[in-house]
Amino acid sequence: MKRTHIGLVFNLKPEAAAEEDEPPDRYAEYDSPRTICAVADALTGAGYAVTRLEADEELYPRLRRLRPDLVFNLAEGLRGESRESHVPAILEMLGIPYTGSGPLTLALALDKPMAKRVWAAEGVPVPRGQTFYPGDPIVLRRSLRFPLFVKPAREGSSMGVTPASVVRDKRELVAQVEWLHASYGGPALVEEFLPGREFTVGVLGNRDYHVFPILEVLFDRVPDPEHGAVYSYRFKQEWDTWDYFACPADIPAELAGRLERLAIAAYRAIRCYDVGRVDIRLDAAGNPYVLEINPLPGLCPGYSDLPRMAQVGGVAYEDLVLWIVDAALERHGLLSARLARQTA
Ligand SMILES: Nc1ncnc2c1ncn2[C@@H]1O[C@H](COP(=O)(O)OP(=O)(O)O)[C@@H](O)[C@H]1O
Ligand SMILES: [Mg+2]
Repeated sequence: MKRTHIGLVFNLKPEAAAEEDEPPDRYAEYDSPRTICAVADALTGAGYAVTRLEADEELYPRLRRLRPDLVFNLAEGLRGESRESHVPAILEMLGIPYTGSGPLTLALALDKPMAKRVWAAEGVPVPRGQTFYPGDPIVLRRSLRFPLFVKPAREGSSMGVTPASVVRDKRELVAQVEWLHASYGGPALVEEFLPGREFTVGVLGNRDYHVFPILEVLFDRVPDPEHGAVYSYRFKQEWDTWDYFACPADIPAELAGRLERLAIAAYRAIRCYDVGRVDIRLDAAGNPYVLEINPLPGLCPGYSDLPRMAQVGGVAYEDLVLWIVDAALERHGLLSARLARQTA
């Protein structure tokens, strides 16, 4: 039997920092060599043959030649408003099975206002909001009251999220929306500001879902009193140790159950496959709302939320990677490929 061959597809973070005219978080979504090596090591350690493939414009011919049995997809995409869906779309066209969600889900999750429409239609609670495209007049709907929260509609990794994202009046709102348009180009999403606690919930699998211990972001631990309760890009860079997170979150079982059910409902509604991480925040009354879903959650060992939650749940990094592979193989009816991994 031939050894199962996995193509590891990624977008590598450039060595050099962002260009001078680009925001410093321009490449925040891309993976570091450390993450790519860790995933590759987990796969080879389990007996899979692994080929690393950068998701650049040459990816299609390389995949067509190589035809791996499965692709482990880490790629955030090179460019464009549906960039995360490009690699799955190519794989779908070539008939190569892959880990994680399909093109529709990845494009939808990247567009926060669109994803929220799907959730609202399915009864998943989301904060009220309004989207402003560059050039739109900034006229707020009457249902939206200050304070509001302003973030890029189509970015991730807290790109463009700072303490100034919380706006208290029209002047601050206009300044923040215009800054996002100028710095990131795409639409800005304005939402009701949810002042409560913040959690992230890791979901694994298809049909039978596994939820890892819930992680809470501890804003009151932040040493800068000006920073406020925002999981900003700076927070993710500077306050990235266990001092600033609680996992499992110190919450009543009733709330934990509610958060888990909400995360699974958001995951299912948007047809997430194999793995995802759902960000949730409470309003002033303690009711949870879904902020967004990450169908390509960060997998940097010891740093990204999902590996941290898995670790607390007793799942080592290597096993987390293999769980994702198993979920994909099972979904594609390829469990024999799992058996073939050690036979070469
Ligand atoms: N409506 C909101 N109210 C309060 N805080 C918010 C709201 N939306 C986002 N945030 C804050 O901004 C952070 C990043 O927003 P999120 O929607 O998760 O986007 P990203 O894809 O950048 O992670 C959240 O973790 C949260 O701290
Ligand atoms: Mg988030």
